[in-house]
Amino acid sequence: MVPTASAGVKRRVRGYDSARMQVDLRESWRIADVEIPSRLVLAPMAGVSVQAFRRQGRRFGAGLVCSEMVSCAGLSHHNERTLGYLRIAADEHPLAVQIFGAEPAVMAEAARMVEDAGADIVDINFGCPVRKVTKTGAGAHCLEEPARACAIVEAVANAISLPVSVKMRRGLPNGSRTCLEIGPQLVEAGAASLTLHPRSAKQMYTGEADHSLTAELVELVDVPVIASGDITSRARAQTVLATTGAEAVMVGRAAQGNPWALSQIMGEEGEPSREEVVAELVLFMRETVRELGEHRAAGFLKKFYGWYLGRGRFPKPFKQELVQLETLGEVEQRLFAAAPGARFVLERLEDELPQGDEVLLDLPISIYGGG
Ligand SMILES: Cc1cc2nc3c(=O)[nH]c(=O)nc-3n(C[C@H](O)[C@H](O)[C@H](O)COP(=O)(O)O)c2cc1C
Repeated sequence: MVPTASAGVKRRVRGYDSARMQVDLRESWRIADVEIPSRLVLAPMAGVSVQAFRRQGRRFGAGLVCSEMVSCAGLSHHNERTLGYLRIAADEHPLAVQIFGAEPAVMAEAARMVEDAGADIVDINFGCPVRKVTKTGAGAHCLEEPARACAIVEAVANAISLPVSVKMRRGLPNGSRTCLEIGPQLVEAGAASLTLHPRSAKQMYTGEADHSLTAELVELVDVPVIASGDITSRARAQTVLATTGAEAVMVGRAAQGNPWALSQIMGEEGEPSREEVVAELVLFMRETVRELGEHRAAGFLKKFYGWYLGRGRFPKPFKQELVQLETLGEVEQRLFAAAPGARFVLERLEDELPQGDEVLLDLPISIYGGG
C-alpha cells in the first residue's frame, strides 16, 4: 500500500527495528506521488550540485538528488546562465530543482519553468543564510516572515502540478525554534515535504545540527520530513532516522568528491582504490566540461581535486600540482600517470553509462518561450 501523507505516526515506525535501531535505507518512500527509491537524499549545494554530481549521486545510492538553488529572478529574466541550471539528464530522476526568491508571483513563474524543464519536484529555499540572498528577502529570511513564506508556497503549489517541498534552517538567531512554528503553516500552504537543516542561519556551518528539532518537527506535520546536517556515516544516518522519525536523511559535505560516502551509508563496505578515485574524478571532469564548457569547468573543478584526492588517498603536493596545470587535458594526463589502471576503470564506467541521445542535455524549447 502506498503510504499517504495522512499515514502520520504510522509512517514513522515503518522499517524500524527498535531492538537494533536499524532503519532500512533501501526502502522506497514518496513525496506526494513521486516515488523515491531510497531514504538517502543528495543535498543541494551551490557551486557543487552540477548535473555530473547529481548523476553520480544517483549511481552511488541517493534516491533523490537536488539542483543547487536557482534564482527565480534569473529565470524570469531568462538569464542564460540561470537557465543552464534547468538542464536535466535522463538518468537523474527523481530530481528536485530548488528555487529561491521573495516574490510569490515570480516564484510561481519560475516553478512553471522548472516543471517544463522536466523536474519531478520543485523545492523552495528558506534556508540560505548568505547575506546577498537574505537581504533581498529570500532564503532563510523568509523564516522571519511566515505570511510571505506561506504565500510563496501557496503560489508555487497552485502554479504547477508537481509536488512542492521546502528546505529550511531552524531559524535566524541561535537557539531559534521558528522552524517548528512555520513548518506546519508551510504544510498547510501546500508543502508536500519539509527538509530541516537544524542550525540557525547565524551559525552558518559551525556547531552541530540539532536533530532533536527534527524529531519535534516530525511530530507536528503529516508530510515526510528529511533530516539534513552532519550525516557523515551509516551509523549516524541510522541513528538520525531512528531517533527522529524522519523519512530520509540528506547528505551534503560528506559527498563532496566522495560518492563512496553515499554507498557506505547505504551499507556497502570498503574504501575505493586509487584507480577508482581517479576514474570517478576524470568522469566527473569530462561531464562537467560537457555541461559548463571547458573554460568555466576549469575553474569550477579546482576545489574538487582536493576533495577527491584528499582523505589520505594521494599526497598533498599532488593536488597542488594539478591546480597549477594549464588545461584539463594536462590534469587528466597527470591523473592517469599517477594511477594507470584508472583508464580501464573509466572505460568500464563510460560503457555502463547512458550516452549521447539517451542523456538529455538540451533545454526544452518551451524554456525559451516557445521557440
Ligand atoms: C557549499 C555548500 C553550498 C550549499 N548550497 C545550498 C543550496 O544551494 N541550497 C540549500 O538548500 N542548501 C545548501 N547548502 C546546505 C546543504 O544542503 C546542507 O543542508 C548542509 O550542508 C548541511 O548538511 P551536511 O552537514 O550534510 O553538509 C549548501 C551547503 C554547502 C556546504
